Amino acid sequence: MCGIIGYVGTRDAAPILLEGLRRLEYRGYDSAGVAIQNGAGLQVLKLAGRVHVLKERLGHQPLHGTSGIAHTRWATHGAPTGRNAHPHRDCTGDIALVHNGIIENADALRAALERQGHRFTTETDTETLAHLIEDAAGATLEDRVIAALAHVEGTYGLAVMSAAQPGKIVVARQGSPVLLGIGENEFFVASDASAVLEYTRSVVYLDDGDIAVLTPTEYHVIDSDSHVQLREVDDVTWDLAAIELGGYPHFMLKEIMEQPDTVRATLRGRLLFEHGTARLNGLNLPPEACAEIRRIVVVACGTSWHSGLVGRHVIEDLTGIPVQVEYASEYRYRRQLALPGTLTIAISQSGETADTLEAMRAARAAGSRVLGIVNVVGSTIAREADGGIYLHAGPEIGVASTKAFTSQIVALVMLGLYLGRQRGLDEEQGREIVCRLAQLPQLVSRTLALEPQVKALAERYADKPNFLYLGRGVNFPVALEGALKLKEISYIHAEGYPAAEMKHGPIALIDANMPVVFVAPKDDVYQKVVSNMQEVKARGGRIIAFTSEGNGDLSALADQQLRVPATLPLLSPVLTSIPLQLLAYHIAVLRGCDVDRPRNLAKSVTVE
Ligand code: AGP
Repeated sequence: MCGIIGYVGTRDAAPILLEGLRRLEYRGYDSAGVAIQNGAGLQVLKLAGRVHVLKERLGHQPLHGTSGIAHTRWATHGAPTGRNAHPHRDCTGDIALVHNGIIENADALRAALERQGHRFTTETDTETLAHLIEDAAGATLEDRVIAALAHVEGTYGLAVMSAAQPGKIVVARQGSPVLLGIGENEFFVASDASAVLEYTRSVVYLDDGDIAVLTPTEYHVIDSDSHVQLREVDDVTWDLAAIELGGYPHFMLKEIMEQPDTVRATLRGRLLFEHGTARLNGLNLPPEACAEIRRIVVVACGTSWHSGLVGRHVIEDLTGIPVQVEYASEYRYRRQLALPGTLTIAISQSGETADTLEAMRAARAAGSRVLGIVNVVGSTIAREADGGIYLHAGPEIGVASTKAFTSQIVALVMLGLYLGRQRGLDEEQGREIVCRLAQLPQLVSRTLALEPQVKALAERYADKPNFLYLGRGVNFPVALEGALKLKEISYIHAEGYPAAEMKHGPIALIDANMPVVFVAPKDDVYQKVVSNMQEVKARGGRIIAFTSEGNGDLSALADQQLRVPATLPLLSPVLTSIPLQLLAYHIAVLRGCDVDRPRNLAKSVTVE
């Protein structure tokens, strides 16, 4: 998932494009490039490596001009080399183009264009678009872009410039997020708002099928029949500080430490103590609709899928409604069972994950009501869902999701509470949950105070090649999440498992060199977890236990143990997951890994 940015106005474009790329780098960071329009035409500079390398190169070979486009890449087709980096050109050099997405019929188009004599210089799917536009008839660049895209199958967020039509950027969206930034006599195109926030808060979110034309004096949006489309101008509410490091060495640590505030923000204005329920204004799920729900299907990917698993425990416990949690990438291609009373919940931090978006669309096509639990305001899942819950956790820049996970769990508990109270959960029980939710920010602060102890743990285990994470019940998903965090930022192989499942295979991995992390708060399955610890101990495994404050009876079993504050079992994953985030973070730092930009990953997976 790449990041694209473009600028047309009166200022020098290069610094604006580079700053935008720096903010978009969490979307992909294996190569980067820029095209600047000036008296010499469209000048392109691109290379393998991070945005700062491109910036250094432009420092030596400056390109000046008041319009341009740029790109930071997450390679899908063609290795991350300078040649395959964007922008891509046509045979004549008239066209320069940057693209986020996948052209699924690129091979067929390429073969046809090569038969017509087009010469390709890269291994990418994207270059096909440049030659298609070169080939297309039309008086204006936008006419030619529309004609070219008529042949294309796949997803794209793209920006195109032509040397023959200076000062114009044509933008197109199909499946990949693109927005316009509206300034005073200057306009921007970007993959997300973080790239333009320094210059404007006014943005236009493009819809699938939209084509936008930007010039120094105006912008307009048309459809593929060139009919003008009216699009709302939205105001971005968060500020630049939210996307700055704020004195932290990494965004991941900043976002972990922000969790008392982000959990508080997710709860703000939503707890109704007197009624023992939650007020979720954007949900658009009136009581009569709640009564019709017969089953709930959660669709998500990665960390969001793990919060969905916690959500299953919570919602089934509070409402009695059966919940199934599906990998969106699998669910979207399964036969959709059009069962009446189905509610589908799409969980996504970015709101742009392609598989989750398509799974939600498939569920809707099968007649399901769809909700979104999303962090990024204005994202596609949020705009397409029938209703939903915004996390209000602020921008999450670190590729490894942390604060979004705890806020997703809090949102799911509030959803379970709201539905439960509509379906017979008594007011007293509701009040208890509301009280405990209100205490969470303070308990999160106390949990974060464990950081020095977690850091010491990391120093002890950072050299281990494998880890096993075990948990039961509502904390089994926390074990999965702990393992995922460690894998994605430290590159250590780690597996999360239901603790009892260990006996059915993974126990074979246990020896003195295998750290086994137990997520073991004192809840109704605690004693069972202790038995699993004894099984690991008996095979010489090294046990790290995360249990509840005041629990003193693990000393004989655990090599190290840390205690998180006690709370309701259903809420415990919010607290037990935090030391696991910190453990992964400190181990990755100790191993010299690029914590915020882990290899091969990207923050928002907008291609399938
Ligand atoms: C988590 O740390 C990863 N970045 C990844 O698994 C992520 O959770 C997944 O790609 C889903 O993203 P979403 O929540 O934005 O849809």
